[in-house]
Amino acid sequence: MQLRLENISKRFHSFVANDNISLSVEAGKIHAILGENGAGKTTLMNIISGLYQPDTGKIYLQDKPVTMTSPHEAIKLGIGMIYQNFMLVPQLTVTENIILGTEKSWRLNLRHKQQEIAALSQAYGLEIDPTAKVENLPVGTQQRVEIIKVLYRQAKLLILDEPTAVLTPIEVESLIHILRQLAAAGNTIIFITHKLEEVINLCDTVTVLRRGKVVATTTTKEVTPQQLAELMVGREVALQVNKSASVPGKVILSVQDLQVADDRGIPAIRNVSFQLRAGEILGIAGVDGNGQRELADAICALRSSVCAAPPKGLAIAGLRSLKKGKIEFNNSFQETKRIGYIPEDRQKMGLVLQFSIAQNLILNAFKNLPFCRHFLLQPLAINNHAQVVMAEFDIRATGEDIKVSQLSGGNQQKVILARELAGEPNLIVAMQPTRGLDVGAIATVHSRLLAERDRGAAILYISTELEEVMAMSDRIAVIYRGEFVAILDAQTATVEEIGLLMAGGTRRG
Ligand SMILES: Nc1ncnc2c1ncn2[C@@H]1O[C@H](COP(=O)(O)OP(=O)(O)O)[C@@H](O)[C@H]1O
Ligand SMILES: [Mg+2]
Repeated sequence: MQLRLENISKRFHSFVANDNISLSVEAGKIHAILGENGAGKTTLMNIISGLYQPDTGKIYLQDKPVTMTSPHEAIKLGIGMIYQNFMLVPQLTVTENIILGTEKSWRLNLRHKQQEIAALSQAYGLEIDPTAKVENLPVGTQQRVEIIKVLYRQAKLLILDEPTAVLTPIEVESLIHILRQLAAAGNTIIFITHKLEEVINLCDTVTVLRRGKVVATTTTKEVTPQQLAELMVGREVALQVNKSASVPGKVILSVQDLQVADDRGIPAIRNVSFQLRAGEILGIAGVDGNGQRELADAICALRSSVCAAPPKGLAIAGLRSLKKGKIEFNNSFQETKRIGYIPEDRQKMGLVLQFSIAQNLILNAFKNLPFCRHFLLQPLAINNHAQVVMAEFDIRATGEDIKVSQLSGGNQQKVILARELAGEPNLIVAMQPTRGLDVGAIATVHSRLLAERDRGAAILYISTELEEVMAMSDRIAVIYRGEFVAILDAQTATVEEIGLLMAGGTRRG
């Protein structure tokens, strides 16, 4: 189904989220929409799927003008949106979720529906158990349910808003395979992603948005990742990490025979020993869920014990108790143990979403001068600090009083980074620090952390993106089932070698 947008604009108050957007998507093609966090992609998709109405502009389907005042009308016209945060009911089965809202009859025949859905999923190669409860399914499978749900409603134009952000690499492979099949069967697909390789490998054409405007539409054959990155951010960006050789100093962190249990009391970290020096990045490579979370939490628990006696009973959410072994933070001055933590779940652990940017920036320091004087918070000092930091870290918002819940993921991450890197930490634990960020924000995070390393910070860099770990690290520890199966020199280690170890290949001496 062919879609054409003509001069679409959408404002939120005085902010122009979509500015005179024109583009056309050819039938049976996969069309990528690319843009920085906040460029206006989701807003545009919400317009195409009937959730928002444009202020001005026209939408054409097969060259006929259409107006949609609800998602229900859009789906009747054959437009199906697969949302970024899934909208399935966890307690219901796959079949119940798929037919939800389509059946008026009380006497619906569930077995018949299950067969129908099994047939549909088979026709598209979308493996699924129609009787499974959604809450028991992995994220990648839930996403498949969302796709079948729109296909069941006979959608011909499928919109996927950052579908790969939440998937493991294997799930991404499988989704790409599915989308190719859907396109081959004549469906039209709009695909939003931050990953330039996904655009080039999967999509036929790409439209780049920057600050609400179309800056380019091109076929993916005629464009390079570097060009796409520059179109997105409007300046040169380093897709490769440029780093100098490290100059390791004294040992900052020393971990010996560490053993940590997970939430259920099962050992998640076993026999882990390593040393981390000033001016060095130790990367942790591994498939998600091999103990990375427990390791980061165990080390960062030092922070609460180091901070001048935290109030009793005020345990930091999710931090696990050390079971066995030793974690030593070596520093000559007791009072200057400073740890910066960039947690995996930035919304739950890194930020207080209802607080303003300015307040979030001083969460670690609100009891200190100049933010607090005679037990009173000093709004002027707090706001001035925020303005300086926002300029320095390129945090984009209309003011420091904006709640962080209203910021894009990239800008939220910059708030955490700015706060955690303030005060020159000796040790930084960064977990998935670039997940879900666009190329511009990724380059900022990388160069900031490298600058901290060069200043003399010891950094533990945990990521499930192998290429990123390889590019950022000086040494790489491979974690598998809670153990370090090898610690390698990043200069000489190969992707194949690490990949094998990550998958449980043989231990190297
Ligand atoms: N409902 C809304 N009210 C106010 N501002 C919004 C709303 N939805 C989006 N915005 C703003 O519009 C801009 C574009 O957002 P969005 O379309 O979500 O960007 P993207 O999907 O490209 O990251 C952002 O700055 C965002 O804060
Ligand atoms: Mg979006």
